[in-house]
Amino acid sequence: MSPFHLTRILPEDAMAAALRADVRHGLTSDPKALPPKWFYDAHGSDLFEQITRLPEYYPTRAEREILAGRAAEIAAALPARTLIELGSGSSEKTRHLLDALPSLRSYVPVDVSESALRQAGQALTAERPGLTVHALLADFTAGLTLPGAPGPRLLAFLGGTIGNLLPAERAAFLAGVRALLSPGDALLLGTDLVKDERVLVRAYDDDAGVTAAFNKNVLAVVDRELGADFDPDAFDHVALWNPDEEWIEMRLRSRTAQTVKVPALDLAVDFAAGEELRTEVSAKFRREGVTAELAAAGLDLVRWWTDDEDRFALSLSIA
Ligand code: AVJ
Repeated sequence: MSPFHLTRILPEDAMAAALRADVRHGLTSDPKALPPKWFYDAHGSDLFEQITRLPEYYPTRAEREILAGRAAEIAAALPARTLIELGSGSSEKTRHLLDALPSLRSYVPVDVSESALRQAGQALTAERPGLTVHALLADFTAGLTLPGAPGPRLLAFLGGTIGNLLPAERAAFLAGVRALLSPGDALLLGTDLVKDERVLVRAYDDDAGVTAAFNKNVLAVVDRELGADFDPDAFDHVALWNPDEEWIEMRLRSRTAQTVKVPALDLAVDFAAGEELRTEVSAKFRREGVTAELAAAGLDLVRWWTDDEDRFALSLSIA
């Protein structure tokens, strides 16, 4: 077994404080909103893994197709000694990269889910002698600091998770990434692409109702962590395409007029019948937009790979 370390960058109390601040702000805003990062407790992470296997949810398969087919090209373009992965989750797709990088010494998965980090990290160290896994329990949207790991470093942000950030957050995030990179390092970015609206909406509103359960799980998190009395059955799952912003939105629509108590915040929140709480945006991209956003952060897009059906893209950019 090679070494597995887990460092808690975000202490438990800071995480709790961030949840409280986000919930207070989001539930007292008009329209109401909660940031998507709070979906991912152990149950939410498990539901997300189920989503990735749904027939309607193509992004994971499309990205895996690119990684499987292009890992050798990616590795040749950037023969990394350290692979850092933001929002690593189960690290399942990353295995293609790990296999293709012969010079790789250390893997640094960064995620807010301790359960996902432990499961993935322990499986990887058991399978790969010689690979040090240094997991970071951290919120990568809250400013990044990385352990001194050997370069060249490849920073991977896969799954299209950058689409869950709002445009201003994206710009700040990419500037932060740029600041972490040294000459010779690179960013490997996964972006879901604009496509037929029906295909997009189905991916976020599956027949089996897994995405609905995932969406409602944020209410269970707020109930458990803040003593709230959200009844997940009192809300309907909504997924819609916003053509102006070119993003999918997930919302929870209150079935009735109701008041939800959040004791830990000493808050009572009124919902009108039909009122919606936005729980996620998932932006879809075009090559020109990705190139421009990277350039604005000082990153130069040098490679662009898509799957056979042009549903999803991986880009490589350098500082
Ligand atoms: C975390 C970006 C991979 O936005 O598609 C899946 C999360 N939300 N179904 C996405 C998600 C609803 C997902 N990513």
